[in-house]
Amino acid sequence: MENFTFHNPTRIHFGRGQIEKISSEIPVDARVLLLAGGGSIKANGVYDQVKTALGERTVHEHWGVEANPDYDTLMPAVKICRTEHIDWVLAVGGGSVLDGAKFVCAAVPYDGDPWSLVEDFGSSITSALPLGTVLTLPATGSEANSASVISRRAMSLKLPFMSPFVFPKFSVLDPEATFSLPPRQVANGIGDAFCHVIEQYLTYPTNAAVQDEFAESICRVLIEIGPKTLADPKDYDARANLVWAATCALQGIVGTGVPHDWSSHMIGHELTALHGIDHARTLAIVMPNLLDAQRVTKREKLLQYAERVWQITEGDDEARISAAIQHTREFYESLGIPTRLQDYELTADVAPVIAARLAGRGMGAIGERGDLTPERIEAILRAAA
Ligand code: NZQ
Ligand code: ZN
Repeated sequence: MENFTFHNPTRIHFGRGQIEKISSEIPVDARVLLLAGGGSIKANGVYDQVKTALGERTVHEHWGVEANPDYDTLMPAVKICRTEHIDWVLAVGGGSVLDGAKFVCAAVPYDGDPWSLVEDFGSSITSALPLGTVLTLPATGSEANSASVISRRAMSLKLPFMSPFVFPKFSVLDPEATFSLPPRQVANGIGDAFCHVIEQYLTYPTNAAVQDEFAESICRVLIEIGPKTLADPKDYDARANLVWAATCALQGIVGTGVPHDWSSHMIGHELTALHGIDHARTLAIVMPNLLDAQRVTKREKLLQYAERVWQITEGDDEARISAAIQHTREFYESLGIPTRLQDYELTADVAPVIAARLAGRGMGAIGERGDLTPERIEAILRAAA
């Protein structure tokens, strides 16, 4: 196992009725900015519960944070925080609202150009407003991690940043707040969480038994409860297990002491930046082909994945690896997530464009061994056509 330092400071309030915990988390004299998306929280009653919990506190609101939160949508929220002397931010929504709130929290006290905080991947962040969240879409793990992904459509960019300062102070995870999700977003959440585990697990062995078994159990849970929670969105137990699986997939523990990949995400972000494809869908396009392209360097973990996640024990090594990759592809397809570029009306023409964009940003050697060159990224995307 590799050395690691682990610290996750986010307090989680999980379960029915937990939105009321906001009242004990945010000081009564706080000046709060409530950040939200396009209105789903008004339709499903979450907004009313949040307002009740906030009571008499001074609250300003900023709505309209879109999927793949945009810099230009978030900057007015930064302005409100500065002019209204906001000292707490409460994000109510999916990963996009939470990620957007992390950017706002970091940008408010920052003197320089806020975009530079994203451009340098968060390394200039030295302080941030305190953040609380109410999660309405299980997928990203943003509710309990230090990452955020910000888009800037005016520049066709989508970039991640990380900083320990933007960990939420607390997050409310009420599975009932997710009952109103359309099937497409539930499927996206399952697919995103599954890929988060794969990016941290399917690399090479480092004798990290706890991390491996935890990763494998999250995958098995997602495979089991994914179809159930899609078929019956109001089955509380199935949805509760999805919510907790998605949080566990990217709150740090699975990834401690092990190598990370993240190349499916880096390539996928380019597909979203250029073509607006939902985040999880980009992963479904990239990951199966990437695993196939990396079958030599990921060999031992692919065999372990085949046996422990998919119970594949028949055939020689190559056949078992192929079967595991095929099962992965079919899992996404079974959720209603197409896995080919052509399903999104794209062709192999995107391949060289994306490889060149990544290389131009210093990502010319990605993956756990830094062996994914622009040529190999292009080949992976051509295979995805
Ligand atoms: O805007 P509203 O009206 O809220 O509608 C949203 C949005 O249209 C809707 N929705 C959310 N909760 C709902 C609901 N509709 C009905 N009922 C509810 N309870 O769902 C739509 C999509 O929401 P979004 O927040 O965009 O989805 P998701 O949670 O999948 O977040 C995706 C973003 O997170 C980033 C992605 O790149 C993408 O920008 N990621 C963040 C990560 C992190 N912070 O660690 C890691 C991930 O890999 C990912 O990159
Ligand atoms: Zn993701």
